[in-house]
Amino acid sequence: KTLPDFDMVLFGGTGDLAMRKLLPALYQQVRAGTVPQGSRILAAARKPLSREAFLELAETTCRPFLGADYDADTWRAFAARISYFPMDVQAGASYGALGAALGLHPDRVRVFYYSTSPDFFATISDHLGAAGLITEASRVVVEKPLGHDLDSSREINDAVGRHFAERQIFRIDHYLGKEPVQNLLALRFGNVLFEPMWRREWVQDVQITVAEQLGVEGRGDFYEGTGALRDMLQNHLLQLLCIVAMEPPPSSDPDAVRDEKLKVLRSLKPFTPADVAARTVRGQYKAGAVAGAPVAGYVEEPGVAPGSRTETFVAVKAEIETWRWAGVPFFLRTGKRMPEKLAEIVINFRQVPHAIFGEATQGTRSNRLIIRMQPDESMRLHLVAKQPGDAMALHPVHLNLDFSESFRARRLEAYERLLMDAIRGRLTLFVRRDEQEAAWRWVEPILESWAASEDRPKAYTAGSWGPAASSALLSRDGLAWNEED
Ligand code: BG6
Repeated sequence: KTLPDFDMVLFGGTGDLAMRKLLPALYQQVRAGTVPQGSRILAAARKPLSREAFLELAETTCRPFLGADYDADTWRAFAARISYFPMDVQAGASYGALGAALGLHPDRVRVFYYSTSPDFFATISDHLGAAGLITEASRVVVEKPLGHDLDSSREINDAVGRHFAERQIFRIDHYLGKEPVQNLLALRFGNVLFEPMWRREWVQDVQITVAEQLGVEGRGDFYEGTGALRDMLQNHLLQLLCIVAMEPPPSSDPDAVRDEKLKVLRSLKPFTPADVAARTVRGQYKAGAVAGAPVAGYVEEPGVAPGSRTETFVAVKAEIETWRWAGVPFFLRTGKRMPEKLAEIVINFRQVPHAIFGEATQGTRSNRLIIRMQPDESMRLHLVAKQPGDAMALHPVHLNLDFSESFRARRLEAYERLLMDAIRGRLTLFVRRDEQEAAWRWVEPILESWAASEDRPKAYTAGSWGPAASSALLSRDGLAWNEED
């Protein structure tokens, strides 16, 4: 259960991700007693801070994210492992101090976490290489966005790949670390019940929604060049789709799983320009209200161009061209400034072939599996059962499949699980280069069509479920987005 001795170098150590997710994740592991005494965290960032000043900043910033799990003694034990390196990652000379601190330990696990802008990934890798800091036991964790299209993602992969072998590269997609996603794998491949039904004969459609209440939160200038398709769909939503749709891998070995995910990505029906118009919806929020409070429209956000055509919402109808999934639509949608923070996968099973109870079962989608990542983590199977009483009245019931009552263990945050996996060298939940490129290849025609078109994204009021065209995407197939709990 204990981790191997490790040194973790956090580039971007004062950044948002480090403070909100990475340091709290490491703190939690110290608290759980899994981090060996000799392990070290080496935070590196541009800010000219002393170690004490960095630790003070880290404590005040991380504390709210730790909630009741914060206690001063554990924090002290955690902080004792941290050092801070103020450095300009672009200057080769600044790697000397880092190198001296890391020393020569060829067998010791060394994790470089690139939590900076991807513009620096090549430079950091080159400098680490030149300084001789990349050992056989080194790994690199790279954060998205890995490029803004296929070519730029290839450039980053090539640059990192000049110094690290593929088995040393951990491309993180934190959605793969979420507990319900893990549980979906357990459900599919740890039981015999679901797999026979997990196909076109029994599944009517699949819906994947990741909705956020947040807007672009002051990141307008970053978001302008990104948009929802690149920020969320190309990575998180497509990875979820792969987990739902992949064939059973022969084992849980990283490449066995990733081979199957790659096959799904390669089986996605490509987009022609006509398809883009018919199978995608892009939206942009205008002023409205979220959770009762008025909010500005996207183009009013700082850093956003007045006539911006950047999408803050995207919905797509994906089709997988295989025997298992032919004809089953996979609807994906994600957006900012939605009514609630909701992330779920919905598997809608087909209607019973013949309704012997007449009216009572007709018109209800009797079986549905909902895997929820937000706001709560749960997995529920919707069934139909008889209501007690003398009449044969059927009623929808839920079977809770996440067994939170059966397992009382603390749930790990996605980043916590993935960081531990990186330290242990487990690649299963990280994205392989060919997967990432296949995902870019699939979304590129959408990006190109949108860029070439004069049309603006469809406006939706902040606090709504996106433009009307999003519902129309499903209603054309006689379907609707899931609206039930
Ligand atoms: C990130 C996106 O990858 O995921 C953000 O860049 C988004 O824009 C975030 O807010 C959502 O993650 P979660 O885990 O809060 O749903």
